[in-house]
Amino acid sequence: MLDLRLVLLLAIAGIGVGSAKQHKPKPDWYTRNRNTVQAIYNLTVYPNNLVIFSGDIPPGLFNENATGRIDPVGDFFGFQDSVEYFFGLAPTPTGQAPNGVFSSADVVEFVSGCPQVAASTVYFTDRTLNADNTTGELVSMLKQVAFWHFDDDGAVLDYDAWIPNIPKQVNLTQPGFFTPQGMNITLNTLCAAQASTCVGANQVYTSPEQCYEILSQRDFGDWDEVWGDNVICRTLHVRLALIRPEVHCPHVGPTGGGKCVYADYVQAYFSNDTQVFGPSGPGTFTCDTYED
Ligand SMILES: *[C@@H]1O[C@H](CO)[C@@H](O)[C@H](O)[C@H]1NC(C)=O
Ligand SMILES: *[C@@H]1O[C@H](CO)[C@@H](O)[C@H](O)[C@H]1NC(C)=O
Ligand SMILES: *[C@@H]1O[C@H](CO)[C@@H](O)[C@H](O)[C@H]1NC(C)=O
Ligand SMILES: *[C@@H]1O[C@H](CO)[C@@H](O)[C@H](O)[C@H]1NC(C)=O
Ligand SMILES: *[C@@H]1O[C@H](CO)[C@@H](O)[C@H](O)[C@H]1NC(C)=O
Ligand SMILES: *[C@@H]1O[C@H](CO)[C@@H](O)[C@H](O)[C@H]1NC(C)=O
Repeated sequence: MLDLRLVLLLAIAGIGVGSAKQHKPKPDWYTRNRNTVQAIYNLTVYPNNLVIFSGDIPPGLFNENATGRIDPVGDFFGFQDSVEYFFGLAPTPTGQAPNGVFSSADVVEFVSGCPQVAASTVYFTDRTLNADNTTGELVSMLKQVAFWHFDDDGAVLDYDAWIPNIPKQVNLTQPGFFTPQGMNITLNTLCAAQASTCVGANQVYTSPEQCYEILSQRDFGDWDEVWGDNVICRTLHVRLALIRPEVHCPHVGPTGGGKCVYADYVQAYFSNDTQVFGPSGPGTFTCDTYED
């Protein structure tokens, strides 16, 4: 009787092992890296992203020297630059339909083959925001594909990320954006915003009218060319100017302050890897670069 039970138990265990997918337990660093990446993206979800204004960024996510490139937005050097990009540009309510914000940011793909490196894909979901701060209908979605390099404590030291298809997302989140009236509204809104944010020592135009006059002569730009001497680049930097006017107002100004300027394509996206990622350059996101 006892023997029969044992045989049955073994048989059940055997069937279980044979039919279930085999997952080896993940090393602690794998889980740590995945949680870090998901925790970063969680702070892009409204209203979590407002943390950028309070300055209460949870410790352990970004190293103080965190540096990276986000295609097609630009290079970001150091902790403050990096968190401004990740959280300061996540959508906040605009008050204009469809008034979308990120209701979730799900890491849908993730690999990490060593403690220092991971790669991920996140899906941001844009939904309408109701008056009571709950989110409603689906407006659009956006994807970010990223490589990550972590320090010994698991905080992000370097990132190389890419956001495809922004123009298609903007078509849904800001309908009419590229019509002549839409572009005129964007320029007028930008010039009004800079006039209230870039004041005193940070003033870059004499008036909203002068801003309009100068920038209406520049390229409008496109969402796959956000790094350029154009209006779209300045619309991003005027939002960042709310956080650090002394840094970002010059980018909104007539010269582009070294940021809203046309960068040499090959230098910006390839030759500059060593300046952006450090001595390992383009090997920064390869496990073989690091000692076990
Ligand atoms: C991210 O946010 C989701 C939804 O609020 C939550 O369930 C999850 O625990 C968060 N993950 C991390 C790593 O913070
Ligand atoms: C950041 O870089 C500086 C200069 O290289 C260095 O002194 C400092 O230790 C670095 N900080 C961290 C947390 O690695
Ligand atoms: C919605 O969230 C924002 C940001 O946290 C807050 O300022 C506002 O009071 C909230 N509104 C309501 C109705 O809860
Ligand atoms: C955006 O929408 C307009 C009008 O419907 C269309 O002509 C244009 O091709 C769309 N652009 C993209 C990138 O989807
Ligand atoms: C664009 O905005 C300017 C300045 O507010 C205004 O004078 C002009 O009529 C607008 N043009 C269009 C096409 O809406
Ligand atoms: C190259 O990297 C440096 C930082 O070392 C940065 O100041 C410069 O803007 C970058 N230039 C381009 C074209 O990417």
